[in-house]
Amino acid sequence: MTDKVTELVSRCLQARDLAYCPYSRFAVGAAILTAEGAIITGCNVENASFGLTVCAERTAIQRAVAEGHRQFTAIAVTCDVKESFVGPCGACRQVLMEFLSPQFGSDWTVYLTKLDGSYKETHLSELLPFAFSPAHLTKN
Ligand code: THU
Repeated sequence: MTDKVTELVSRCLQARDLAYCPYSRFAVGAAILTAEGAIITGCNVENASFGLTVCAERTAIQRAVAEGHRQFTAIAVTCDVKESFVGPCGACRQVLMEFLSPQFGSDWTVYLTKLDGSYKETHLSELLPFAFSPAHLTKN
């Protein structure tokens, strides 16, 4: 794997350590690679009013946008599941779909990462086929 992927994977694992998940005890970490090469991380942040919980992927993307980034190349996501590679929830897939990669459009890379650092490479278009996207709003 390239150095940048190694770094992205390791940053998502570190981000998971910061998860605030007293209710589910299910820690999730995410790290987004911006088109400029910056890495922005996020973890899940739960709330006593359970529905207000924010997933790690959305924490990361909101943080990235607030720091001035709008184009992304890849995201690595990790959680405690050992038996299989786990993808982002449906809501997070839609939120990721909002933003484009300069090279790949909406088909940017998603690394589903296990705690041992192994990962499966997939792509956003594969995770959310026939997606509703910002482009559709200009086509009416
Ligand atoms: N969670 C994420 O952070 N990302 C996902 O894609 C799925 C679920 C979090 C939300 C909640 O804090 C915990 O995992 C259990 O659902």
